Amino acid sequence: MTRLAYVNGRYLPHARAMVHVEDRGYQFADGVYEVMPVHRGGLAEEGPHLDRLDYSLGQLRIAWPVARPVLALILRELVQKNGVENGLVYLQVTRGVAPRDHRFPVAAASSLVITTKRLKPLSPALIADGVPVVTIPDIRWRRCDIKTVSLLPNVLGKQHAVEAGAYEAWQVDGEGMVTEGTSTNAWIVTAEDTVITRAADHAILNGVTRAAILDIIQREGYRLVERPFAVAEARTAREAFLTSTTADLLPVVRIDGAPVADGKPGPLSRKLREAYFHHAAAAA
Ligand code: PDD
Repeated sequence: MTRLAYVNGRYLPHARAMVHVEDRGYQFADGVYEVMPVHRGGLAEEGPHLDRLDYSLGQLRIAWPVARPVLALILRELVQKNGVENGLVYLQVTRGVAPRDHRFPVAAASSLVITTKRLKPLSPALIADGVPVVTIPDIRWRRCDIKTVSLLPNVLGKQHAVEAGAYEAWQVDGEGMVTEGTSTNAWIVTAEDTVITRAADHAILNGVTRAAILDIIQREGYRLVERPFAVAEARTAREAFLTSTTADLLPVVRIDGAPVADGKPGPLSRKLREAYFHHAAAAA
């Protein structure tokens, strides 16, 4: 089966799928994206992901490339054509192709690219043992709520984490507060068993996984406060974890080399992970 990609109205072999050199996504990172999970052949959390796409497009005044119901059909068609059972769908929308000029083009149609990726289940060791994170300064712009393809600080941050032997880098703002990971949201659990995560302000991406975990926390009656937390508070937390479409929920067991509590995944992280697993399976 040839793996296909969708590029502006056409299904092309993935290896030959290309965009124009003057696409503003390439020239200016003038575009947005979404990453959606596929579970047992079905798109999960499609509504929240397309709502966030609508938000990102609206904030940047980029037109929808096709109507939302049409996009929903294309997404399904590509997943089906590529025979994806468990994996991811990536979609990028840019302001389109136009002669290079910073100002918005007068007449350009938004570009749409969609690709899929098959995924093996997360390594059981990551879930059982948890993951280390390191902290880095948050050097991003002030609109991290927009899911833009402009990801250079995130790329540099993740590479730093990898070279430091960590799974993720937690970015820290000018006040010493953790914003989020380079591709994940950040959480801690205090000694009083209160779950803390930063409110969805302009400093973080409002993760779809984050929203699902917040729902579970409220439904199960755990204590929750949405507020920033400092690196020092995270180091003395009872538990810490991260969330994203690709990582689900992973316990964080070391921060900059120092163990969180006893350096083992905590019970609340485990419970939330299990509850999220059922939620994700039901959402597909
Ligand atoms: N990243 N924060 C950032 C900066 C992210 O890039 C992501 C997602 C998240 C978590 O969002 P969600 O729960 O909706 O996946 C938080 C995706 C997976 C990526 O870029 O690959």
